[in-house]
Amino acid sequence: MITSNHVGGPPDNPMKILHLEDSALDHQLVCHALNKAGLGAEISRVDTLAQFCTAVNQTSFDVILADYRLPGFTALDAWSALSTLSVRPPFILLSGAIGESAAVSAIHLGISDYLHKDDLGKLARVIGRALEMNQTRAAKAKADLELAASEKRLTEFAGYLQSAIERERGAIAREIHDDIGGSLAAAKLDLAWVTRHGSDPTIQAHIQAATEMLQHALGASQRIMMNLRPSILDQGLFAAIQWLATSFEKRTGIQTSLRTNNEHLTPSKSIELTAYRTAQEALTNVSKYANCKRVAIEISDAEDVLTLEVTDDGKGISEHELKNPDAFGIRGLHERAKTVGGWLDVSTRQGVGTSIILSVPLSPASQPLPQEQF
Ligand SMILES: Nc1ncnc2c1ncn2[C@@H]1O[C@H](COP(=O)(O)OP(=O)(O)OP(=O)(O)O)[C@@H](O)[C@H]1O
Ligand SMILES: [Mg+2]
Repeated sequence: MITSNHVGGPPDNPMKILHLEDSALDHQLVCHALNKAGLGAEISRVDTLAQFCTAVNQTSFDVILADYRLPGFTALDAWSALSTLSVRPPFILLSGAIGESAAVSAIHLGISDYLHKDDLGKLARVIGRALEMNQTRAAKAKADLELAASEKRLTEFAGYLQSAIERERGAIAREIHDDIGGSLAAAKLDLAWVTRHGSDPTIQAHIQAATEMLQHALGASQRIMMNLRPSILDQGLFAAIQWLATSFEKRTGIQTSLRTNNEHLTPSKSIELTAYRTAQEALTNVSKYANCKRVAIEISDAEDVLTLEVTDDGKGISEHELKNPDAFGIRGLHERAKTVGGWLDVSTRQGVGTSIILSVPLSPASQPLPQEQF
């Protein structure tokens, strides 16, 4: 049997309370207590589990009050029956029949509160507190969802930006190759022709100087192209990192070592490019800030995770430097790692050195959808 009463307060928009109680007298006492507290409520009573399930599926209650022990079931069975609801209302045990420890374990299950039947004077306050807690929990769950969605959007956007940048870099590299590189090479051939067909020593000296300038410009455009679109990656990730390490050592004089467990790593193109750009940025940072003597690069694919580690023995990075709002290198690497399903760790100690570690799971299940990077 379901019975309903209106208690206390103004009749418009009353709070909807479901009371699971087999004693009509105890129900009356509850109605009386709420009436006395001036709480405007529409309170319905049920006394079987079937009625309880029907009531919660038909009506959206603001609060559920439940006696603990009822004929053939307990309030915990009623609580489990609520698990099908998307949002559970506050559920308050209102009982005299259980001990403190049972009440505590019920609250561990997620039941909002417990009140002894002898304390009905506190009922309105307990309901108010349970409602507040429920609202806070719901607001937090909503905020957590929004935060997760916003982080997902940010990662997707970072991925989109990275591929747009790489596409743009590829296009610029091709233009340098076709227009500037082609013209410089043609000019060099013409100068060689003039050298062969002239004999004036002054002119020959100028041609020699111009040829050297052209050679310098060709070298520079090749270097720029390599930075823009690392064609060396076509020879595999290990070869590309080896090329980076060798040219870094030549340019900076910093002793650079490279180790791997597998010289024939074949991750996807987007992982290759992420690892390459990570090594490139880490080495650029080393040359700009570390003030170190040695750099060690290690790349491995052990346990199906690609790991790239660039370690220097320099001055280390302070908290303050890492949080510098104008610095985007390391922050960009974090975002870039996420776009291929990986993550970046920065381990650093002042005066001891810095390690930049990229980890990317290689099994297809842990990979996000592939992105065309260039
Ligand atoms: N290997 C390192 N050793 C010492 N300090 C470092 C090292 N790498 C980075 N830092 C410090 O951490 C800061 C952040 O580095 P990050 O690469 O994010 O930015 P940046 O190099 O300053 O600028 P950007 O990379 O955007 O051009 C640097 O400004 C520098 O102070
Ligand atoms: Mg940097």
